[in-house]
Amino acid sequence: MTTLSTPEMQILQATAGDYEGVIAISEGVFMGIDYLPFRYHAWLKDPQRRMFVAKLEEKVVAFDSFLVVDGGVTAVLQGLRVAPWLRGRGVAGIIQKFTLDTLRLDHPDVTKIRLTRTEDPPPTMLNKYRLLHSKAVVSIYLLADELEETFMVLESRLPSTSQDFPPPVFLDYSEVRSLFSGPLKEEDILPGRFLIQSWLPITTCKANLDLTSDITNDGSTSKEDDISVSSTGPSITAVKGFLSLGTPMFPVPLGDGKNRLDIDLFGTDLSCAKIHVVFQLKEAVKALPTGGSVVCSVFAEEILRDGLTGFLDGITLFSRCREQLVLEMDIKPVKTPPSTQCHS
Ligand SMILES: CC(C)(COP(=O)(O)OP(=O)(O)OC[C@H]1O[C@@H](n2cnc3c(N)ncnc32)[C@H](O)[C@@H]1OP(=O)(O)O)[C@@H](O)C(=O)NCCC(=O)NCCS
Repeated sequence: MTTLSTPEMQILQATAGDYEGVIAISEGVFMGIDYLPFRYHAWLKDPQRRMFVAKLEEKVVAFDSFLVVDGGVTAVLQGLRVAPWLRGRGVAGIIQKFTLDTLRLDHPDVTKIRLTRTEDPPPTMLNKYRLLHSKAVVSIYLLADELEETFMVLESRLPSTSQDFPPPVFLDYSEVRSLFSGPLKEEDILPGRFLIQSWLPITTCKANLDLTSDITNDGSTSKEDDISVSSTGPSITAVKGFLSLGTPMFPVPLGDGKNRLDIDLFGTDLSCAKIHVVFQLKEAVKALPTGGSVVCSVFAEEILRDGLTGFLDGITLFSRCREQLVLEMDIKPVKTPPSTQCHS
């Protein structure tokens, strides 16, 4: 196969009209639980994000995007994909170079790029990026009519709530803000102050807490409803605790009535982890219609992998990936515009 050279390809700012083209190249991405079809239009409205499509003969052949985070010093790359019929010909390299050149030019204050990947990224990536963190991923597949039984089994495996394991509480938006700007020592539960929600790796600076609400915004709910944050242990004055973030359930291309839910766990206590998983799961699936199903991925510190796998034993596993890696690279600003055409 030959490598495609840049002049054959146009790279443009993505528009609402490119949606179908992006969906057409996304078949099978992430084993059917791709988030982009659901988030594409909300992403377009986000002033912190830029989205790009590469076109060959006017057909979309690749997609990439960046989101400026951490108060303007970091950009997260998200959503990269290349048309299945063009993979292995360097197209990912071309669109990523354009994305990065645009980022450097338009956001000279951005000095770092960050992204998340599953295990075993290509060796060329590991030469460029440093590994910041890695979490275990355990995913299960639940059918609506199995939920009652599943919850009975899971609840029978929970430690009884006590002073050691008080029940989690949902925090509203203002409580989340005060939790992170207050006396809670977030290093205790968030190593490196990373708050990864649904594959978006950001730090716990205040500007990003606004962003975490926005990323799950489907345009139909208020800020407070967009993100479920539950916390165990830390009253505002405590130093140790356990935190979880749950996305609302959202539809995925896997099939009609199929949904996805991501639960990010922060902390290393297995009993708290189990309690939070059940708590988040119960809350999220309230809206699951008869005949519906949900793929739920739990992201946790590696030390919790075996315990969580045992806890979820007997439930159908969905084996998309085992690990979530957070990778980062330093970048320098450029002074000349990117060489490939870009129309806005
Ligand atoms: C991963 C994918 C985008 C690679 O596209 P491709 O055009 O076949 O990539 P190539 O093998 O030709 O590699 C071209 C360059 O992209 C890089 N690349 C490959 N896979 C990558 C990945 N997952 N993330 C970032 N860069 C990647 C390569 O390292 C190479 O870089 P180099 O030119 O600096 O050496 C493509 O296989 C795809 O669309 N997969 C499904 C979606 C997906 O898994 N996306 C990645 C996670 S968001």
